[in-house]
Amino acid sequence: MIDKKLENAFNDQINKEFYSAYLYLAMKTYFEELNLKGFVNWFDVQVQEEQAHGMGMYDYVHERGGVVELGAIDKPVVEGKTPVEVFEQVLHHEEFVTSRINALMDVAEEVKDRAALSFLNWYLKEQVEEESNVGGLLQTLKLIGDDKKALLILDKDLSTRVFNPPVIG
Ligand code: FEO
Repeated sequence: MIDKKLENAFNDQINKEFYSAYLYLAMKTYFEELNLKGFVNWFDVQVQEEQAHGMGMYDYVHERGGVVELGAIDKPVVEGKTPVEVFEQVLHHEEFVTSRINALMDVAEEVKDRAALSFLNWYLKEQVEEESNVGGLLQTLKLIGDDKKALLILDKDLSTRVFNPPVIG
């Protein structure tokens, strides 16, 4: 049976994961308006990944005999006005998520739940990958600057991204 404090922390993170999906859906809209279909595809995959992250925790809480309590999802706000600024926000957001996963692991450690710690290791590794991918894209976008031709080439590249349902845990 999962500790109540850890169950609450998981429920909070489930909310953050679905908020992430919602935020990336809002960013997808930004790129829809620019008609950059490769970026649209990239965010589409991102939305599906975040939903999978949320569902992974949702299933885990149940598996551990806990109760899932879903909270309200905040309204997402896209702060950036340019692709670079949008990806800066993505990177900040992923860094925030990493800090939340670390905090969740702190709670698992506090209640000595080694099984949960082992489960959460997958999320920690995923965050390293996410930050690295987004950081790389941001660097490319900064290099591209005002070069519209290069932006369209990157857009074409991003259209090849596909969603592979993750095997979590
Ligand atoms: Fe589920 Fe992008 O963190």
